[in-house]
Amino acid sequence: MAQITCAVITLSDKGSKGEREDVSGTILKNLIEKKLNGEVKFYEILPDEPKLIEEQFFRFCFEDKVDLIFTTGGTGVSPRDNTPDVTKNFVDKEIPGFGELMRVESLQKTPTAILSRATSGIKDKTLIINLPGSPVAVEECFNSIYRAIPHAIEKIKGSDVDCYVEPN
Ligand code: MTE
Repeated sequence: MAQITCAVITLSDKGSKGEREDVSGTILKNLIEKKLNGEVKFYEILPDEPKLIEEQFFRFCFEDKVDLIFTTGGTGVSPRDNTPDVTKNFVDKEIPGFGELMRVESLQKTPTAILSRATSGIKDKTLIINLPGSPVAVEECFNSIYRAIPHAIEKIKGSDVDCYVEPN
């Protein structure tokens, strides 16, 4: 399979103004390169503004045509947490399983895991996956779900390979 091309978007009002170091984005980029052998071609820090998030999704899907967009942050219950809502409205098909698995596995570590509304979906030929915002959450949630990503991308692109993924 060809190297997976990725975009990372960190959603953070403070981060977008340079008032907070984006530790989560850095961790996420490293995980993509190390565990998915992915190429992080694009990286943005945006404020929690639905219109800006949607415009960036559009560019990454239809102009840059990346295989995978990861978002981190903005999945919770604060008034400015909009990422899952924008994602749901934007995608052609939602894939609830990524968010479900993150929550189930993260609940073993923290009861607040249920507060993340992270979801996932497909737009055209691009897979979009939300992760929560804290550095620990990024690492834990990525590790829960990354093994399903290469096969998901193959299938999204129309591959007719059999649905068999090596067990862990
Ligand atoms: N998941 C894991 N694995 N570890 C965490 O520390 N934090 C939770 C949850 N998911 C957490 C987690 C908390 S406290 C919140 S508020 C939600 O993610 C949403 O975070 P976000 O708004 O930064 O996306």
